[in-house]
Amino acid sequence: MTKRIWPAIIQGGMGVAVSNWSLARAVSLVGQLGVVSGTSIDTVLMRRLQDGDPTGQMRRALAACPWPTLAEQVLKRFYLPHGRQPSQSYARLPLWTLDPNRWRTTLAVLGGFAEVWLAKAGHAGVVGINLLSKVALPNLAVIYGAMQAGVDVVLMGAGIPRDIPEALDRLSRHEPAMIRSEVVGMPAGEAPWIRFNPQEYDTGSTVALKRPAFFPIIAANSLATLMAKKSKGSIEGFVVEGPTAGGHNAPPRGIKQYDELGQPVYTARDMVDLDALARMGYPFWLAGGYGSASGLESAWAKGATGIQVGSLFAYCRESGLDSGLKRQVMQSLREGPVFVRTDPLASPTGFPFKVVEVEHTLSEPETYRQRQRICDLGYLREGFLDDRGRVRFRCAAEPIRDYVRKGGQLADTYGRKCLCNGLLSAAGLAQLQASGTEPAIVTSGDSLQEVRALIPADGTDYSARDVVEYLLRSAVAPQSGPVDPMPESSRRCEA
Ligand SMILES: Cc1cc2nc3c(=O)[nH]c(=O)nc-3n(C[C@H](O)[C@H](O)[C@H](O)COP(=O)(O)O)c2cc1C
Repeated sequence: MTKRIWPAIIQGGMGVAVSNWSLARAVSLVGQLGVVSGTSIDTVLMRRLQDGDPTGQMRRALAACPWPTLAEQVLKRFYLPHGRQPSQSYARLPLWTLDPNRWRTTLAVLGGFAEVWLAKAGHAGVVGINLLSKVALPNLAVIYGAMQAGVDVVLMGAGIPRDIPEALDRLSRHEPAMIRSEVVGMPAGEAPWIRFNPQEYDTGSTVALKRPAFFPIIAANSLATLMAKKSKGSIEGFVVEGPTAGGHNAPPRGIKQYDELGQPVYTARDMVDLDALARMGYPFWLAGGYGSASGLESAWAKGATGIQVGSLFAYCRESGLDSGLKRQVMQSLREGPVFVRTDPLASPTGFPFKVVEVEHTLSEPETYRQRQRICDLGYLREGFLDDRGRVRFRCAAEPIRDYVRKGGQLADTYGRKCLCNGLLSAAGLAQLQASGTEPAIVTSGDSLQEVRALIPADGTDYSARDVVEYLLRSAVAPQSGPVDPMPESSRRCEA
C-alpha cells in the first residue's frame, strides 16, 4: 500500500470560531491542512444567522446541505434578515445533555456541515475539523455533519478520544455511533454512552461517506500507545502538542509546582519521547512554538512530518478573532512583548489554559471581578451523579451557589472563567446579558511574540498565505519521507 503524502503544515484548530471556514480555506488553498474549529459550532451558526448572515455564506452552505427541510426550519427560527436589535440578546437553547434538545443536535449537524463545506468550496485541498474530547456531548453530531461535507481529517485533543476511531467508521456507514461519557463518581467503564443516530438525519442516500483520517492530539507517549493499541478503528497520525501551545495545555505530570507568577512548571517528564513515537510508524506533527522556518526544520530533523501552528494564524486577516482584539494585540506587540499567562485555574476543565493579558478582557482582574457568573452555554460542564443516582452537569465557573448545591467544592470555583462566553466574545459573537455584554478572553501560545515578524512595516495586516510562505521560505525539506511541503494537487483552485 502506498503511503499517503501529507502537507507539512497543519493550521491548528482554534476555538471558538478563530479557525473558521475562511481561515481553513485560505490555508487549504495554498496546499496545507486548513482546520476549522467544531467547538460550539451549533451556537456559532445560530449567532451568525441572528446577526443577519451579512455575507450570505451561512445561507449558501445551508442551501447546499443534504437536509433542506431542516435547513429551512433553522432559517425560519433563527435567521434575522436585518440582524438583532441593539438591545436584543442571542437566542438561548436548553443546554446539551445525554438526551439533547432536537434544535441543538440539528444545529450541531448543520454547523459542522456548513463550516467544512465552505472551507472546501471550489478547490481540491484538504480540510480538517478540530474538536475537544472534553466537550463531548455535541461531538458526534458535529462530526457527522462535517463528514457529509467531505471532511478529510478529524483532530481531537483535551482528553482521551478512544472511541472516536470506531465512531468514524460507523458514521461513514450511517450507523449509530457512541462515545463513553465521563461522570465524576463513576468508574470509567460504567459511565453512560453518548449516542448519535445518523438515521435521524436520513438523507435518502445509502452511499458510504468518506471516512476521515483521525489525528489524536497528544502530550504523552502513553496516550499515543493507548490510542494505537486500544482503539477499535484506525488512527492515521498524531499531533504532539507541548505546554507552550495556545488554548488548553495538558496538566504537568507528578507533583504540581508553580513559578513566581503562579504558572504550572513543566519538566522533562512532560516532554514526549519523539524517537519512541517515531518508532510507532505514524506520521506526526509538532505543535507549540514551532511557528518559524527553523521550527519546521527542527521538526523534520526529529522525524516529524511537519508542524501544527496556531498563534501566527490566529492574528491573520482570514481568522475569526474579533478585528478590534486583533488590532489591539498587534498594536501592543509593536510596542513590546505581550504577556501570555498559563493560567492553572481559568478553565473549568481543570486543564491549564493560556490567556493573553489584554485590557478589558476576562484576564484583567477588574473585568473578571465585575462579570456576573452565569452558565448559559455549558459546553465545559462535567457530568456528576446526583443523590438519586441520575447523571447531571455542573461547571466550576457557573454561579457558585448552584455549583456547590450540585455537590461541587467551593475551592474549585476560585479563579474559574466562563470560557464559553469569553471565547465566543473573542470571536465577535458576544452575548448581551442583563448585566451587560460578555467580556472576551483571548488565548494564544507563548510564541505570540513571533507574530511581530509578520506584521507589515506600515502596520496593516497579513494573510494566511503570508504565514505559510513565512514558514516555508527558508525551510529545506528532507530528501525522503512522507513530506510534501506544497502538494501540487491541493494548490489547484477551481473557483
Ligand atoms: C486562539 C487559539 C485557540 C486555540 N484553540 C484550540 C482548540 O480549540 N483546540 C485545540 O486542539 N487546540 C487549540 N489551540 C492550539 C492550536 O491548535 C495549536 O496546536 C497551537 O496554537 C500551536 O502552538 P503555537 O500557537 O505556538 O503555534 C488554540 C490556539 C490558539 C492560538
